[in-house]
Amino acid sequence: MSTEKRSNFGSKIGAILAVAGSAVGLGNIWRFPYETGNNGGAAFILIYLFCVFILGIPILIAEFTIGRSSRTNTAGAYRVLAPGTQWKWLGRMGVLAGFLILSYYSVVAGWTLQYAVNAATNSFANNTPEGFKQMFATFSSNPWQPVIWLIIFLLATHFVIVRGVENGIEKASKVMMPALFIIILLLVGCSVSLPGAIGGIEFLLKPDFSKVTGSVLLSAMGQAFFSLSIGMGCMCTYASYFSKETNLTRTAFNVAIIDVIVAVLAGFIIFPAAFSVGIQPDAGPSLIFITLPNVFQQAFSGIPVLGYLFSVMFYVLLAVAALTSTISLHEVVTAYLHEEFKLTRKRAATLVTGSCIVLGTFCSLSLGVTKGFAVFGLGLFDLFDYVTAKIMLPLGGLFIAIFAGWYLDKKRVKDEITNQGTLQSTLFNVIIFILKYIAPICIAFIFINELGILK
Ligand code: PHE
Repeated sequence: MSTEKRSNFGSKIGAILAVAGSAVGLGNIWRFPYETGNNGGAAFILIYLFCVFILGIPILIAEFTIGRSSRTNTAGAYRVLAPGTQWKWLGRMGVLAGFLILSYYSVVAGWTLQYAVNAATNSFANNTPEGFKQMFATFSSNPWQPVIWLIIFLLATHFVIVRGVENGIEKASKVMMPALFIIILLLVGCSVSLPGAIGGIEFLLKPDFSKVTGSVLLSAMGQAFFSLSIGMGCMCTYASYFSKETNLTRTAFNVAIIDVIVAVLAGFIIFPAAFSVGIQPDAGPSLIFITLPNVFQQAFSGIPVLGYLFSVMFYVLLAVAALTSTISLHEVVTAYLHEEFKLTRKRAATLVTGSCIVLGTFCSLSLGVTKGFAVFGLGLFDLFDYVTAKIMLPLGGLFIAIFAGWYLDKKRVKDEITNQGTLQSTLFNVIIFILKYIAPICIAFIFINELGILK
């Protein structure tokens, strides 16, 4: 290992905010609502909550343990903790997942920038629900416009990554996260008071378990892992920058709770609004880009200037939430190339940014000009989403649980979780039990169940 001093997060709260910044993003505000809509509503949310609290938090703690005790990138971590074994492939799969997610995620992140501009130039005013649908369809299938935003977004990510951990990642997270939270709360208030909003509230609160199939289970698990940024070493990489004093268990709980609250609140913005203007809840990835402009326009029809201000602020903050997530994805791959292949940090980052621009462009085009071109029935954008969230992350989570539960020395895990015995560890045995038995069994069951359905 290199002897050069590794950078760290500068403060405890900075570390928590950076981790929360990675977790909270488009996964909560864009992906959670449309997955909820596609999978029938309240029952999906309950399964998602089970996956977050029973499977997600222990796996998050396992990733923290692996990252902080090895103090290196996610692939290097297995080299340090399990030298000479095949565990390194778990780290490498994580890096690949990070790279694929970054490519298609940046496309959506780019959309948020275009919508911030739409909001700022007042193009939501006097439009109809049908008009908003059209606006999104025309924009997202345009061959060059979304690509330009994608490039701008990746360059912004690149800029923060090159400035390093403490100056870049931490500072950006500290200011923006609280601001986003406040505006989300305001929007929930607006959305639930729209006429006809009650249908959306029922959709979120009344579970219909007859709709739960194998693919609903897999979608809920995938959403939980995606939203918590687990299963691919992202949290492992961030934990390698934690200080010795960071309380891993408490950080994991705090982040999971923040992440769930933001997702559920996003549901309470989107669905009441969708029902109010008669948009189907299963409209897919376009859902928030069609319903939200309606909220801004209708909820504030009496005071248009407020609608204008909120819409601009919302999309800017959403872009920032996406940015703190793309930074964490980029960091996984950059730290890997920098530490394992001894590239300079700058060169590693440039390589990642450049290749993601190319791959992201193909993802973007797959929603427009190359729409007919499909692999396994999915366009590139949907394929990347499916393969990462529904296969690679759960599989990664399965093996991370096995690694921390069975392979790692129990004393080592305990030392990390209790900060060398200085913290109480009432939950230690529960966490280990889940990692050893519950998580592998549940994840394997959900996979096998889904395969049976596919037959
Ligand atoms: N958790 C992020 C979100 O919800 C996405 C992400 C996934 C980030 C995996 C890092 C790793 O938007």
